[in-house]
Parts: sequence; structure tokens; C-alpha cells
Amino acid sequence: MSETIDAFLKENRTFPPPTEFAKQAWVNNDDPYKRAEDNYEKFWEGFASELHWFKKWSKALEWKPPHAKWFVGGKLNISYNCLDRHLSAHKNKAALIWEGEPGETRTLTYYDLYREVNKFANVLKKFGVKRGDRVSIYLPMIPELPIAMLACTRIGATHSVVFSAFSAQALRDRNQDSQAKVLITADGYYRSGNVEKLKERADLALKESPSVKQVVIVKRMGNAVTMESGRDHWWHELMQEADDYCKPEEMDSEDPLYILYTSGSTGKPKGVLHTTGGYLTGVYATNKWVFDIKDNDTYWCTADIGWVTGHSYIVYGPLANGATSLMYEGSPDYPQKDRFWAIIEKHNVNIFYTAPTAIRTFMKWGAQWPEKRDMSSLRLLGSVGEPINPEAWIWYHETIGKGRCPVVDTWWQTETGSILITPLPGHTILKPGSATKPFPGIAAMVVDEHGKEVPPGTGGYLVITKPWPSMLRTIYGDPDRYVKQYWNKFGGKFYFTGDGAKRDKDGYFWLLGRIDDVINVSGHRISTMEVESALVEHDAVAEAAVVGKNHEIKGQAIVAFVTLGDGYKPSDQLKEGLREKVKEVIGPIAKPDAIIFSDDLPKTRSGKIMRRILQDLAEGRPVGDTTTLRDPGVVERIKQQL
Ligand code: WTA
Repeated sequence: MSETIDAFLKENRTFPPPTEFAKQAWVNNDDPYKRAEDNYEKFWEGFASELHWFKKWSKALEWKPPHAKWFVGGKLNISYNCLDRHLSAHKNKAALIWEGEPGETRTLTYYDLYREVNKFANVLKKFGVKRGDRVSIYLPMIPELPIAMLACTRIGATHSVVFSAFSAQALRDRNQDSQAKVLITADGYYRSGNVEKLKERADLALKESPSVKQVVIVKRMGNAVTMESGRDHWWHELMQEADDYCKPEEMDSEDPLYILYTSGSTGKPKGVLHTTGGYLTGVYATNKWVFDIKDNDTYWCTADIGWVTGHSYIVYGPLANGATSLMYEGSPDYPQKDRFWAIIEKHNVNIFYTAPTAIRTFMKWGAQWPEKRDMSSLRLLGSVGEPINPEAWIWYHETIGKGRCPVVDTWWQTETGSILITPLPGHTILKPGSATKPFPGIAAMVVDEHGKEVPPGTGGYLVITKPWPSMLRTIYGDPDRYVKQYWNKFGGKFYFTGDGAKRDKDGYFWLLGRIDDVINVSGHRISTMEVESALVEHDAVAEAAVVGKNHEIKGQAIVAFVTLGDGYKPSDQLKEGLREKVKEVIGPIAKPDAIIFSDDLPKTRSGKIMRRILQDLAEGRPVGDTTTLRDPGVVERIKQQL
């Protein structure tokens, strides 16, 4: 941690908001901060009042730590807020602009999207899906994905979106945990010009997903699929027969909205549960102010909807704002390395939100690619997923934004639902590498092991000290884990983020990465535990320990230390086999970059693997104290394998 702090301390460039930008921005002074400071409940009520409620709440917040209820007694429907509410002013405005990897586009106006969502809601109803039932959605980046999500919200079903690049096993585990009744998937999708056969993976998962009774398949590719009669149905056939109006359910503010699985430091993925009124208020407010979204903006967030960024800032935030949200199906380098810039040029994108790992990749590919394209439409840039290093920030600001566009570095998590630490682009003086300050109404602190605030410049744990509307309410099916993981560390007083941070003398936050056993690969959280258990599933593996190593592009790369069982010999072929195993169990994103075979792992006398030592070895740093090891010689033996 101290190395990162030193490096950041050298960064003292500042960027005030451009005058023209500030003039037109939603926020250009510190009034909102003051108002929120005075009364944060009232502050959030202001945003909630901009939404449509069938029945107004009676109380803004009921806080029985660590359980919060927001807008108590209020009734609303999310699809109504994202669609019906806009039909008078924006009926024919583009809600979604979709571009497929081969280059075709589909634009859905608010009315188009409204009609599709109503119809699909009726399809789900026909299958007996009711309020509170869970629906798994395993779809690539095609319009049917947001349609399916919004259809769930229309009838009050809880969706669980599973990232389409996840493996069959990952889908199976999520189906089982959520006890989903229906699965929505597709025949396949494009990735870098190739066909990914999604239905095949879904079929494997379905063999062990007994709760799933009906499956809906979108025909995206036309590749051959096996259809199980009575269970499998084509989306387009169902939609032909569906009625085009479905009355929106009046949901309680605290009714579940969705489950999204994410990696934690121990055991299986956690089903983060978000509810209705608070979540929508949080994403609506932050999408409006952080991205300064205006009626005629074309806004593009490049995340996959399989991750929380896509849930909050491709679907719910922009649509709640009546904005135009762009969605792209494929790879950034297909057919060429300028695809993103070509999309910005073609659709006249004004606001662009991506991840540091992507920015570093673009830097490596070179400025000649963006320079070929006219990107003068851009007025605001955003970053999310991991700390952005000042060098990448500056490149983004200069090469993509031509020095004209503020860069909002937004810190948040699956659990927080919406952005918590961020600049407001018309007001905040930016410092490259800092996510700057908490959004109005959010209270954050950096504390030591005992929960005491640390002085400026000192690293510590990032905690959130007041409840906020879009916070997770629980871990689905595991309420104890919610309390243990997020609240116990500081005696129930603070929400524990699992991130390290420091504040500078101006009160700016500088994020220092995860401090638990979670690796952040290209902005995606992967638990060391899960990769280890995937490796151990391989016949040849006796034991495995996984650590993250700094990586120029990906932020962190996965390094696996593996001890083989008797009778197995290290080989390159075996390494490939192990990487394949991880891909099969989790997905390609978790494949280790390096695998190091070793006859043993560094362990304490009580048998605990000392990942700190493995981390030093992986990073090529001198290894610290090894005297507590049962067998200190193991360190030398591993070194010889490097
Ligand atoms: C990291 C993604 C530094 C952090 C929205 C957090 C960041 C984890 C930033 C959440 C940022 C996200 N600066 N680190 N701007 N944004 N992170 O749940 O470690 O996929 O805890 O949510 O990503 O990842 P998740």
C-alpha cells in the first residue's frame, strides 16, 4: 500500500471544470453538498419526488443498523418509471440505440421499448411468473436483455442476470441459489467475429437447475440449437402471440428488484439483493448529476449489462432519466482497433463511460486509432471499475477528450448500487487518479483497524458511515453473511467496503484497491477462493493458492501456485489444461495468466497458506519474514520455478 501512496503523492495537477461546461451543468456550485449535509434524508427525498409513485412514502428512512428501509410505505413500478412516465414527452425519442458487432443497428424509441416490455411481461405471466419469483437472464448484449429485465420489473419478478461469458457451472450455481423459475437465453452471440454458442452452455447448466421449468431463447445467430419440447420456446414466437399491454404491478419501495452475484472474499458468490424505491432513486440521481445527462445527449456506457455497471448505468439510470442509452454487442477491436471511436463518430456520442483497463488497452494500441475519427461530439468522459492511474487519466483526458471533457472517476460497488464517490463535472476540481469526493448525501471516511479516522495522507479502510438509498439490503438467502461481511468489522457502525483508501489534505479520496482476497481483473471482481476451488476440481491438482499481480493493462492478473497430486508431472500441456478448467468452471475472465508448480505452498504452522509471501514472489519483491513458516525452504524452491 505504501508504494501506491508515494506514487500518488507526486500527482498534483488539477483540472477545474471548463467554464462552458460549468455554465450548462446540473450542478455548478456546492449548494447540493450543503443541503445534503443539513439533512440527507430530505436531500434524497428531493430526487425520489422526481420519480412517479402510485403512493407516496410515509417516511424517508427507517434505520435499524445495519438494516435500512427507504421511502417506507411508498409504492412504485420501475418499468413505469423507465417507460410509461416518458411517453408523453418522449414517445418517439430513442431509448436504446443498439449496435451489433457486425455493424447493424437497432433503435428502440421509448414507445417501442414500452411495447416490447409489455409484451414480454405478458409472456412471463403466461409462464406463471408472479411477484417475487426469480427469473435468470443469461443473455448477451442485445436489446432483449434490457427488455427482459424491465419486463420482470413490470410484474414484480426479481431478475438475476448472469454475465453471458460465464460458464455453465456458474449459471447452474446461480440458478440453484436463486431458485429461478424461468431462464431467458439466446442461441448464441458474436464475439470478435466468432459465434459463441450460448444455448449449449445453458443446456449444460439446465441439467442441474431443477427449479427452472421454462426456457425462452432469443434467436440472435441462427446457429443450430437443441430445443427441449415443453420447456424451450423461441422468444419471437411467444412475442407474436403476446398482448401488448400489461398493467404494472404496484411494488412496495422495499420489494426486491434484482439479485446480482458478485465475488466476496470467502466461499461461493454472493447474491447481492437490491430493492425498488431506493435503488431507482440512487441510480436516477447519480446518472443525472454525475453524467450531467441532458435531453439531447447520446450516452454510452461500454460495460456489459451482466455486471452492475450495466444494470445501473445502461438500463435503469438512463431510462429513469428519459435519456438515450447506447448499447454495443461486441469487442473493441472488431473489425479494427478503432471500433469504439467509430461508434462515437457514427452515433455522435456525447457522454462516454468506460473502464481503466480498456483505457490502458487503447493506450497500448496507440493514438492513431482514435485520431482517425471525429469525436468532437464528446463532452464528458467517465471511468469505473478500478483505480485509474494518473497516466491513463491524462491520456484519456487528452487523447480522447482533447482536453475539453471533464473526466469523472466514479467509485462504487455492486453492493452500493450506485456511484458513491465521484466528481460532479460542472463543479469539482479534478485531480487525476482521485475519485474526489462523496456524492452529496453520502458520508465516507478512511479509518484504521479500530474504526478511528486516520489523518490526511495515511492509508486505511474505506467505510461509509450513513445509509444511502441504493445500498444492498441483504445477501440473498444468507442474511448472516450480509451482517458479517459488511458490518461486523467495525461493530455495526460503518459499512465496510473492502477497499483501501487515503484522503489528502483537501479531503479528496484516493482509492488503493481491494484489501480482501479479491482480485480485480479488468475491473471485475474475482475471488481467489473461487479460482482455487476451480483448480482443485482438476484431477491433477492437490492444492492451489491464487494471488493477484500488478498488470499493466488489466490492473491485476491472476497467478496460481499449484501443487500436483501423486503421479502427475508438471508440463505446459497440464498448465493449459488447468487454465481450461478455470474457464469451464468460472469463465475465460478468471483464467490464470501464470501457473507455477511447486511441491508445497508456504504455510504457517497451523497450516494456513500465506498468500502475502506468494504475492511477494509473484511480484518479484524480496520476501519478508519467513520464520513463521512450517517449511521456510519452500520459498527458495518456488523461486527456482519462476
Ligand atoms: C473497484 C463495479 C477505484 C473497487 C462498479 C470496488 C474502483 C470494486 C472504482 C467494485 C474506482 C470500482 N476507483 N476502484 N473508480 N470503481 N472500483 O462490485 O475495488 O464489480 O470495491 O462494482 O471495484 O467492483 P464491482
